[in-house]
Amino acid sequence: MEKNTLQETALALASADRGILAMDESIPTCNRRFRKLAIPETEEKRRQWRELIATTPDLAEHIAGAILFDETIRQHTGDGRRIVDVLTEAGIIPGIKVDLRAHDLALHPGEKITDGLDGLRDRLGEYRSMGARFTKWRAVITIGEGIPSSGCIESNAHALARFAALSQEAGMVPVVEPEMLLEGTHTMERCLEVGERVLRELYRQLAGQRVLLEGTVLKTSMVLPALDCPKQQTIAEEADATVRCLMRTVPAAVPVVAFLSGGQPPELAAARLSAINERWRATAPWALSFSFARAIQQPAMEAWKGEEENRDAAQHALMQAACDCFMARRGEYAG
Ligand code: 13P
Repeated sequence: MEKNTLQETALALASADRGILAMDESIPTCNRRFRKLAIPETEEKRRQWRELIATTPDLAEHIAGAILFDETIRQHTGDGRRIVDVLTEAGIIPGIKVDLRAHDLALHPGEKITDGLDGLRDRLGEYRSMGARFTKWRAVITIGEGIPSSGCIESNAHALARFAALSQEAGMVPVVEPEMLLEGTHTMERCLEVGERVLRELYRQLAGQRVLLEGTVLKTSMVLPALDCPKQQTIAEEADATVRCLMRTVPAAVPVVAFLSGGQPPELAAARLSAINERWRATAPWALSFSFARAIQQPAMEAWKGEEENRDAAQHALMQAACDCFMARRGEYAG
């Protein structure tokens, strides 16, 4: 394991106020988003969509890294270049999602465990040889009546730590992603309490597996009230709760915290990230960055609609959303 390389790559993923673009939707998830816009659910359309993103002019001004899905890292552009090479040549670090999705956790109704550790060492070796320099594993935590259980938190944190160790062994920076889902009626205070439990256990497990924290990125949720919670909060209150949760649990050795968007409308995700940075950028020990999928891609996909003639408009929308996130990193997103 090249400690310096891991550390440099982790820092590079948040360099120059840029962030990460997640374009690693699994085939079913990508198809679901296509279906809503009547885009054909084919491998060729998914390839065209990922090519459109990777070839957006000047995307690297705002995006430092892009997370790919297994299908995409094997695909080529229409003129025969590997998509992973297009990104690298543009100055965007390619990464790869390596988990095999969340499945029901046995004897824990309503809770999930992420699979994918079996055979992971071999898969990581292949991805590294294909040009990936970082990896991602997502754990899903549902907040509800009596959940998450300690069994769910511990098993997901353990899997994240096993993944992170294997990834560093293979020379790639692990993006460890515990996602606290926004669905439900829970309050912001409850989200804060669950976030603390999850992150505390995650860093206990990462230490147990000897993971070099300087060579990791934490990708997690902002601390927010659930979508159907009757008591909503101000953006400033959400920003403070989010950073309080991190301050209590995430070691200062971690270089980057990159938030996921979790289905928030793009403008709101940018406004929340901007408030976090405006209030905490000067004092937080980690870069407060983004690793958004929907909040960057959605407006562009709506502009594209699967039609080649809409390509320029879609790339323009993608660039605009990425620029909003870049401004939010500086605490300067004005809406
Ligand atoms: P969203 O930003 O759409 O939540 O996606 C981030 C992601 O990569 C989920 O794993």
